[in-house]
Amino acid sequence: MDTIDQIAMKLDEAEKSGSAPTIAVEDLHKSFGAQKVLNGISLCVRRGETLAVLGRSGTGKSVLLRLIIGLEKADSGSVRIHGQDITGLSLDQLGEIRMKMGFLFQHAALYDSLTVEQNVMFPLQHHKKEMSTSDQSNLVRQLLAEVGMESHLEKLPSDISGGMQKRVGLARALALEPDILLLDEPTAGLDPISAGEIDDLILKLQEEHHMASIVVTHDLHSAKAIADRLALLNEGTVVIEGSFEELQKSDIEFVRQFLGHS
Ligand SMILES: Nc1ncnc2c1ncn2[C@@H]1O[C@H](COP(=O)(O)OP(=O)(O)O)[C@@H](O)[C@H]1O
Ligand SMILES: [Mg+2]
Repeated sequence: MDTIDQIAMKLDEAEKSGSAPTIAVEDLHKSFGAQKVLNGISLCVRRGETLAVLGRSGTGKSVLLRLIIGLEKADSGSVRIHGQDITGLSLDQLGEIRMKMGFLFQHAALYDSLTVEQNVMFPLQHHKKEMSTSDQSNLVRQLLAEVGMESHLEKLPSDISGGMQKRVGLARALALEPDILLLDEPTAGLDPISAGEIDDLILKLQEEHHMASIVVTHDLHSAKAIADRLALLNEGTVVIEGSFEELQKSDIEFVRQFLGHS
């Protein structure tokens, strides 16, 4: 039997040798009524890599994440997770794949009526029923320690700052040991210092867990700090994709505007 480390090594090798990326989105289209939101989006993310998806508000960044999670159905195109197209899957099959995805929503990151500890415990109670309560508790404490929140177990979300809420949301996103992490505006609404701390935390988590990550943001500074590659969306398509330096060199008018004014 392979140990976890051996499996991880094999996965790394498979990815390096050019097999399927962890997340592969191809020619994705999505409209709401007459409004075309995504008009042919393609992108991929490999294990250990962080892609920042940038764009003005209302361009469809959150919709894109919801399609990748399978919370909404695309009109056409495909979303492949570890090579498997999820667009035609049943809810049961989707549930299994979704367990390997950690996500942090833009709003309502936490359950208001549950304590910090209960929030992080929640996915374990629902999906790790075989774990004993004391093992679950220990894991929750470990996860909260990882995000610097171990001394706030009994607090309610309303009693902690926005930055702390995001930390707890990140701990909860990691509870089921995902190999995919999807974060929607993790620094929005935070003061610059708290935002910087969340960026540092995302970088640290990424180094430790080697996930394939997509971070949606309209914050260029944050994108530059945490991402290997950036994809800039406008009017339903990817205007440019590359490193921050590549974006800076672009002479596409929209890219220049976006870099200049955000
Ligand atoms: N469930 C929905 N029904 C109708 N319109 C929607 C729905 N979800 C998103 N939209 C519309 O799609 C567009 C993109 O939304 P969104 O992905 O939230 O933008 P972003 O995250 O980039 O700010 C917006 O115009 C929004 O109003
Ligand atoms: Mg959004």
